Amino acid sequence: MTNRMPIVAGNWKMNLGPTEARDFAASILSDLVTVRGVESVLCPPAISLPAVHAVLSGTNVKLGAQNMYYEEKGAFTGEISPTMLQGLADYVILGHSERRTHFGETDDMVNRKAVAAFAHDLRPIVCVGEHLEDRDAGRTERVITSQVYGSLKGLPSNRLDELVVAYEPVWAIGTGRAATPKDAADVAGLIRALLVEMYGAVEASVIRVQYGGSVTTANAATFAAIPDIDGSLVGGASLRPDFAEIARQTLRAKKA
Ligand code: PGA
Repeated sequence: MTNRMPIVAGNWKMNLGPTEARDFAASILSDLVTVRGVESVLCPPAISLPAVHAVLSGTNVKLGAQNMYYEEKGAFTGEISPTMLQGLADYVILGHSERRTHFGETDDMVNRKAVAAFAHDLRPIVCVGEHLEDRDAGRTERVITSQVYGSLKGLPSNRLDELVVAYEPVWAIGTGRAATPKDAADVAGLIRALLVEMYGAVEASVIRVQYGGSVTTANAATFAAIPDIDGSLVGGASLRPDFAEIARQTLRAKKA
């Protein structure tokens, strides 16, 4: 048994500008607010954060950004800083595999971002995950170990209840081919063991670990039933009207 609060986050990626984002958030909100006992987080594109913030204000549904830079201000064209997000977003996704693959983010950059998130009262959802070549070559453990150590070092050990780690195998993202429950459980267990090595058993016990990669209403409960997994990071299915159903199934699975 654990008293970690389950968490389901919807990563809308590069979809829904301010008007569409506001309308979609409003359309799912009445269902989402009824799911208590799971933290639900909506992560729209940066330009739509204020519009969705206005919709969620005063509710139990949280707002997350999809990325940020680690400097507070300056000559970083196109970037968004932690100070700009502070007070607007509750969470920030960091080191998503699309950021790592298409935009060259390294573990070191992700780590600086995570440190900056803590310094600005933003809760980081830090993504790790192996590519298919890594898995096929038996390198999953090595890759996850170096990502966890590289991305998650030096965080405040007394505030780790604010940290979420998302295990997202790259080959499962947007492919309709989710990890098997056993593979997800094995890697979630590995991530927890590494965090215990880094921070100690008591400190690490409050860190939440999500699974992500082709999560839908059809498999969310299976992943949520895994003791080391506290919920899911959802891409495609978070843009559907029944997103709240994923949160509801997560709650049911955790209560069972
Ligand atoms: P997916 O994306 O649910 O569409 O596979 C997950 C993610 O990228 O976080």
